[in-house]
Amino acid sequence: MPYDASLNFIFWSPTKIVFGENTALDVAIEVENLKCKKVLIVTDKDLAKSTNIPEKIKKALGNLCVGMFSDVEPDSGLHIVNQGAKFGKELAADCLVSVGGGSAIDTAKGIAILLREGGKLQDYAGFQVLTRPQTPHIAIPTTAGTGSEVTHVAVIKDHEEGRKLFFGDYNIFPNVAILDPKMTEGLPPKLTAATGMDAMCHAIEAMHSLQREPMVDGVALHAIRLIREFLPRAAENGKDMMARGQMLIAANLAGIAPANAGWGVVHGLAHAVGAKFKVHHGLANSILLPPCLRYNADVCGDVYLEILSAMGVNAAKVSQEEAGNVLADTIADFTKRLGLPQKLREAGVPQEGLKECSEIALSDGAIVYNPKLISDPAEVLKVYEQAW
Ligand SMILES: [Fe+2]
Repeated sequence: MPYDASLNFIFWSPTKIVFGENTALDVAIEVENLKCKKVLIVTDKDLAKSTNIPEKIKKALGNLCVGMFSDVEPDSGLHIVNQGAKFGKELAADCLVSVGGGSAIDTAKGIAILLREGGKLQDYAGFQVLTRPQTPHIAIPTTAGTGSEVTHVAVIKDHEEGRKLFFGDYNIFPNVAILDPKMTEGLPPKLTAATGMDAMCHAIEAMHSLQREPMVDGVALHAIRLIREFLPRAAENGKDMMARGQMLIAANLAGIAPANAGWGVVHGLAHAVGAKFKVHHGLANSILLPPCLRYNADVCGDVYLEILSAMGVNAAKVSQEEAGNVLADTIADFTKRLGLPQKLREAGVPQEGLKECSEIALSDGAIVYNPKLISDPAEVLKVYEQAW
């Protein structure tokens, strides 16, 4: 899939990045820079229960903090966003500080919309529905994976309708992302590995996407190099601050990549098993990545050679025809070393559920960017069977 150098593209990444150990404790400076005075913290229920991180941020904000909404759950839903927005309105909050993983950050994006626009969140679902900047939002990730702190995308579940609503809008980029390695210190090894593989998939999917663009290649390739070097270290020793910091940077770069170029078959298939069988998003991506690379191999040889080099493999000895299989093997070895399950059956997916997932995956927004058009559920099923 060589570049057509004459193709137009847009690269957008307006979020200010602040990086460094303990920089989250300077969050008040960023609030003041945004000329805000009343901050609502939006955080995960588990994080608030099992760590002192949200309290630390609250203390750091001092009088600027008017409240903390700590009811965010994995796969955040409309009802949670509505509760948070109601609370924020009562407090007249003019700024959101999200503290947590992708779910907390996405919830804050939803609250940001409701505080500014009012009405029902579902009315703003889709692409570019909003017409003005939303409530200022500072994101402090506590995992290194989703990259949501630098994307214009939020996924919020409509539990009543049993579907996920997608919001893609340039007005919901967080204003600031604070990448503080101390915030990810307590993440357990398996979650560190799985969320890190989500970032790996973001970088690789953006590069094999139909909307691949040169600016994205730059950030994605560096993200892959960083993940290769630092994810095993961060998973092995959570206190390794160098590894934690470099993984936050990697996840950030990897988040910028698909926000501009799109995703592909890996995320399409991972979303379906996530929605149907609650497989952790990073783990689903990690398991599905090798068979999806083999699926795309015949049209992505040149891209996969570049990714192989970033993975530290001597690609000069690999042909374009071989690249997909060699890369798939390289990734599988990497995730084995991380101690991650290799098959969907180990992640709780029953074989008889794969057929339904194949149909769900075909209607996923991520799959449309895949370099090979997939329209036959039987083809998807074959990929799932390999991963099972
Ligand atoms: Fe992802």
